[in-house]
Amino acid sequence: AEIKKTKAVIMENELLCDGIYSIWLKEESIAKVAKPGQFLSIYCKEGSRLLPRPISICEIDDEKTMLRIVFRVAGAGTNEIAEAKKMDEIEIMGPLGNGFFLENTSNSILIGGGIGIPPMLELAKNLPGKKQIVLGYRSETFLVDEFKLYGEVIIATEDGSIGTKGNVIDAMREHGITDGMIFACGPTPMLRGVKSFASEHNLVAQLSMEERMACGIGACLACVCKSKDKDHHSNVNNKRVCKDGPVFYADEIEL
Ligand code: FES
Repeated sequence: AEIKKTKAVIMENELLCDGIYSIWLKEESIAKVAKPGQFLSIYCKEGSRLLPRPISICEIDDEKTMLRIVFRVAGAGTNEIAEAKKMDEIEIMGPLGNGFFLENTSNSILIGGGIGIPPMLELAKNLPGKKQIVLGYRSETFLVDEFKLYGEVIIATEDGSIGTKGNVIDAMREHGITDGMIFACGPTPMLRGVKSFASEHNLVAQLSMEERMACGIGACLACVCKSKDKDHHSNVNNKRVCKDGPVFYADEIEL
């Protein structure tokens, strides 16, 4: 689909938990074509510079007129987005990236870690069949009740305050999860763990590496990762997470 740079209107801005915000944006032309796992570049000012922040799409409303983003405030740019008020206008570009490949699976395992959790929500809505949803948090949870609408939710927290004490892999072992197509988004160490879990159980895994992105628009090359596709000139082909991903099959990339 065509990428558009346009203005969106803030329809709702809610603090979900410490530092995590949920914003609904009205922008029909992007909402109509966006797919789960794609992301937006949100433009914000840092000092005098206007810079894009890549933020994944958490949800698209049923009428396909609005997009939801759920993000963590991690600096001046994201703080500016978090302070936006209802009816404010914000410049966005999207939909960006390839999104998840919606294969016709009867049994899926959705795995989200930290700020990799939000994009799994629109995916959960769109995947057919049985879904087990494994969510890893530091301590405070968010979006859990919304995920429960779409499948069985299993929680891991680093401090053990809710669910399994440990990470998403610990939670999957505790609950005996061994079968299904894996869809995951989260920090690189988590994706590395998911990749080895998948190969241990002989499962296909799609990994979204969005944490690695910086500019989000193919300009900075901060997001380059090694892929196993060979091109004509070398044994290793570098891929930009923001342009060629953020979703890759686990066996396509080195982590
Ligand atoms: Fe800048 Fe991909 S994030 S090139």
